[in-house]
Amino acid sequence: MGITTIIGILNTKKPGAAAVPARKSFLMGAVLAALFLAGCAGEAPSALDPRGVAAAEIATLWWISFGLGTAVFLVVTGLLLYIVFVRARGADIPDKDAHPADGRLWIWVGGIIVPLIILVIFLFFNLRSLNALASPATPTTVTIEVVGRQWWWEVRYPDEGITTANEIHIPVGQPVQIRLTSADVIHSFWVPQLHGKIDMNPGQLNSMWLQADEPGVYRGICAEFCGVQHARMQFLVVARPAEDFEAWLERERQPAPAAVDENVRRGQQIFLGSACVYCHTVRGTNATGNLGPDLTHLASRRTIGAGMLENNRGNLAGWIVDPQHIKPGNLMPPTNLHGSELQALLDYLETLQ
Ligand code: CUA
Repeated sequence: MGITTIIGILNTKKPGAAAVPARKSFLMGAVLAALFLAGCAGEAPSALDPRGVAAAEIATLWWISFGLGTAVFLVVTGLLLYIVFVRARGADIPDKDAHPADGRLWIWVGGIIVPLIILVIFLFFNLRSLNALASPATPTTVTIEVVGRQWWWEVRYPDEGITTANEIHIPVGQPVQIRLTSADVIHSFWVPQLHGKIDMNPGQLNSMWLQADEPGVYRGICAEFCGVQHARMQFLVVARPAEDFEAWLERERQPAPAAVDENVRRGQQIFLGSACVYCHTVRGTNATGNLGPDLTHLASRRTIGAGMLENNRGNLAGWIVDPQHIKPGNLMPPTNLHGSELQALLDYLETLQ
């Protein structure tokens, strides 16, 4: 409706200009509205499509607020229209000699009592949700530490000695404890389909819990502006049945597999002999840098560049050669390699399952 109104205003006849017929402007508005609304579908995770108990609680609170807000809007608009179109039509205009006390009832009821009742209802539902979100129904089974960095997510399982990046694996149907902090600026951790947002502040530890009720891959995003690549700071929450999750943990606990193939060995030498090792760790090798993501099981991850690109050989090659072209401002410098060196390095990285 808003868009058709804007189009209507734009189409207001200028002196000397021909007006666009109303039907045409309505059609243009409908097309534009459809285009805008098309952005609401597709990949974007919606907090109104909850897949976990906490997100369901938040979605319910949203619908209650929306319902109450709509009811108030309709009543106030109805009264306004009544005054404009019915009361103002002559006969019923209040006498200027009328006693001022005549309107007091409206002020007491419409201005104080009714708003008070509505606010108390809001308060009740808010407190109920706050209480429900404070702690999970059953104790958490897994603790995960997430560190926000410009612009990616370091993910640690302290009890397991596992460090990974941009992917959080959790067992489905169980609450897990998430401890959050930041290594640089303020970020905000948000998985819309599982829970609300929570800030990640440098030097401070915040805590929340996550629970997914269905197996699946849920998109997470940074919800606090944190620099030029804020919009490209994404992660995935992978919720899987308990036995799959245990198998994942077991695989992640292992150090990187030894390089057996000759080409892979060459790739490993290139990796260990280059600047890569100053920033990245590959457990089981001499690479122990901690400025960039741990690459021990890089090949098993779904994306590179914090959700930017699908993790495949071509994208990985582009990322290694010219990361600043793909994600300007990130900390990774370009790497200058001959074609065959790059291929060997890719061969090696692909073994890091
Ligand atoms: Cu991190 Cu926005």
